[in-house]
Amino acid sequence: MSAPELHLWHPFTQNGVDPAPLLIRGARGVFLETPDGRQILDAISSWWVNLHGHSHPAIAQAVAEQAARLEHVLFAGFSHEPAEELAAALGKIVPQPLRHVFFSDDGSTAVEVALKLALQYWNNLGHPEKRRIVALENAYHGDTAGAMSVSDDSPFTAAFNSWRIPILRTHSASCAHCPVGLTRATCHIECLNKLERLLSDEGHEIAAVIVEPLLQGAGGMIVHPEEFLAGVRRLTAAHGVLLIADEVLTGFGRTGRMFACERAAIVPDLMCVAKGLTGGFLPLAATFATDQIHDAFTGGERTRAFFHGHSYTANPIACAAANASLRIFQDEPVFERIAAIEKVHAARLAAFSSHSSVADVRHIGTVAAIELKVPDAGYLSSLRPRLYQYFLNRGVLLRPLGNVVYILPPYVITPEQLNFVYDVIEDSMSLDF
Ligand SMILES: Cc1ncc(COP(=O)(O)O)c(C=O)c1O
Repeated sequence: MSAPELHLWHPFTQNGVDPAPLLIRGARGVFLETPDGRQILDAISSWWVNLHGHSHPAIAQAVAEQAARLEHVLFAGFSHEPAEELAAALGKIVPQPLRHVFFSDDGSTAVEVALKLALQYWNNLGHPEKRRIVALENAYHGDTAGAMSVSDDSPFTAAFNSWRIPILRTHSASCAHCPVGLTRATCHIECLNKLERLLSDEGHEIAAVIVEPLLQGAGGMIVHPEEFLAGVRRLTAAHGVLLIADEVLTGFGRTGRMFACERAAIVPDLMCVAKGLTGGFLPLAATFATDQIHDAFTGGERTRAFFHGHSYTANPIACAAANASLRIFQDEPVFERIAAIEKVHAARLAAFSSHSSVADVRHIGTVAAIELKVPDAGYLSSLRPRLYQYFLNRGVLLRPLGNVVYILPPYVITPEQLNFVYDVIEDSMSLDF
């Protein structure tokens, strides 16, 4: 009897309608390579994780060396050099006073950790009534239950509504679709007023507000004014509510600074990173906390401990990859590359803004988005699969978020390569899809 065939089940993929996945056999720099030698320019950093180019030799070497020395050890009751080194390196770059780091595996788990830390913080302080969470419209924080609860309603969450924890929802500063009908040139960030009302009326029951700082990713690459983030920080501090900054996408240079929070000169109480932490090599995430939060988990009863962990918490190989990625920030002109990307975005987007099929263009740091006018706007827009296929046929990996085409390249992309990506997008706009 022959062995039964086991089929791969890919994420966000509907086998009845989506094309078969492309086989990739190697990757170098910005290019993915298929077995028949086709080169595909990865213009979205393989789901926003890659920073310094695929298969960067320094990270590959660090991974190989670490795997041969210590592949893994449990992280409760034990520690290891790669994690200690990583904590020290991160301590030099994360906004202060975030002085404690709790490792997990992915963006979603970093968010779960932050939410649970916020709830238990108040519980340990004798305020179990502070248990509600506020999140933004258009938010996306991941696919596990807690992260999915704070994410906004979407096709990703529809089947799980009965399971999602009820949360409070406030406006996002989506200027292209202003939630309060104003325009950025003359507004005073009135979209914050709803949050202010929520915090005044229900702050005594609210544990934390969670935001994607300055850039909401999966919700449509929505760029917020810095004043909005600064306002969220001011209001949460004034009302005794914790602020969680989900920097899973924005961390490690994506918005032009190491962390988006720096652009608004704020420090959250809890901060989540993942994706770019290992330069795109391995899953590793971190949630940072202030002394104030950490100290609520110490002293007195053992039950004050944070009873949360994952088998592969702080995996040494992943930590070694992260250490190597952070060293590249020092050894290579990473922020010069980022500045060069920003320059091309600014120059090329200007031409798109006047196009009759474009509803909005926006960019921050290395991320640019072109929102197209369509009758069925949203993640399931019928234009999206056709555009996706067109781009792939032209040798460019772009995965539009519905009717929003965005570019989020590895930092090593050259201006010529980035201009080519723009040329392909421009060509797509003259086609009759
Ligand atoms: C802002 C943000 N938070 C959390 C996540 C979830 O991360 P992961 O897919 O690694 O679980 C994502 C993923 O896109 C994200 O963009």
